[in-house]
Amino acid sequence: MRLAPQPSAQSLRLIILLILVMGVAPSPALTAGCPTRCVCDDQLVVQCAGQHLTAFPTDLPLATRQLIISNNRIMELPPLLLNYLSDLVYFDCSNNSLTEISESTFGNLRKLAYLDLSFNTLMRIDDRTFGPLSSLVMLRMTDNPGLSDIHPDAFGENSGLQVLDVSRNNLTELNISSLIGLATLRSVGLSGNPWSCDCNNEDLCLWVHIEGFKFQDEGQTVCGGPPGLQGERLGELGLQLRSQCHQGLGSWDYLYCIAIGFVIFAAGTVSAWAIGVVMVVYERYVKKKSEQMNPDDEVEQEAGPGMGGGGSQQAKPHGNGDLKNPGHTVV
Ligand SMILES: *[C@@H]1O[C@H](CO)[C@@H](O)[C@H](O)[C@H]1NC(C)=O
Ligand SMILES: *[C@@H]1O[C@H](CO)[C@@H](O)[C@H](O)[C@H]1NC(C)=O
Ligand SMILES: *[C@@H]1O[C@H](CO)[C@@H](O)[C@H](O)[C@H]1NC(C)=O
Repeated sequence: MRLAPQPSAQSLRLIILLILVMGVAPSPALTAGCPTRCVCDDQLVVQCAGQHLTAFPTDLPLATRQLIISNNRIMELPPLLLNYLSDLVYFDCSNNSLTEISESTFGNLRKLAYLDLSFNTLMRIDDRTFGPLSSLVMLRMTDNPGLSDIHPDAFGENSGLQVLDVSRNNLTELNISSLIGLATLRSVGLSGNPWSCDCNNEDLCLWVHIEGFKFQDEGQTVCGGPPGLQGERLGELGLQLRSQCHQGLGSWDYLYCIAIGFVIFAAGTVSAWAIGVVMVVYERYVKKKSEQMNPDDEVEQEAGPGMGGGGSQQAKPHGNGDLKNPGHTVV
């Protein structure tokens, strides 16, 4: 019987080499070529604008620093292909058909400073979508007609953000709690959204009122509702909303007041009753006691004058002392 032939040392080496080569073999995204229908220059700029692309280009140079894929019909940014480009600084993706971006989309783009997502069909921005973009300086995200929801913490980690433009979307509310913490933010575009000018947006309106200089097209930053305030400028409503949203008591406040009033009333009644009972009991007790103590009354009365005499004798030295008081001698 023959055993299976032992692989020779040479064929083993060949297999190992093959495995190694396959392991590090460049995926399509890693090749040093240039995507079809794009122009790549030696400044590491890849220009693919207006090429009727329907998918994100493959074959991008690994070291790409600027990528322009605007004016196409790209529907998706594949995280795997995009995040190879860890040197990307400038990314223009405007005027495409993007419907969704997520936390993993920009997971590795730590050098990205400029991002343009305008003229797409995004609907919502989640919590950590821009979280990994720690170098982001300018974010343009205008003209997404269905974009109506931006998470309160969406920009919380973009501490270098200077320009944010979310004009001409479908936003009715924007929670600014993380935005006002961004120290470098100097320009914000909010115009052309149907802002709802109620107490939910009180902080936003007050922000526009106080730091109006930061807002591009502040004159076009107006309310879409409620009906009575349509077309009013957010900045002019800041103070009005502030007082309106804090003065009146809500129905729960009224209930609370009634409950507190009742408790106070009940406590007053009960304590008055309790005090009455205690007084009556005490009075009866004192009466009873004094009846029992009656025989001792005369003894106490005899002792009284004696003690009073002692008191008056003690008082005399005090009177003399008063005369020696320097305050009196001066007068
Ligand atoms: C968007 O791109 C198309 C070509 O795909 C172009 O015709 C259109 O003018 C562009 N729109 C804007 C607003 O740039
Ligand atoms: C904008 O949002 C409103 C609801 O707030 C919705 O009824 C409307 O359809 C949205 N517009 C677009 C273009 O998606
Ligand atoms: C804004 O978001 C913060 C944090 O998520 C939250 O605590 C706050 O209540 C929100 N403000 C409004 C007016 O919804």
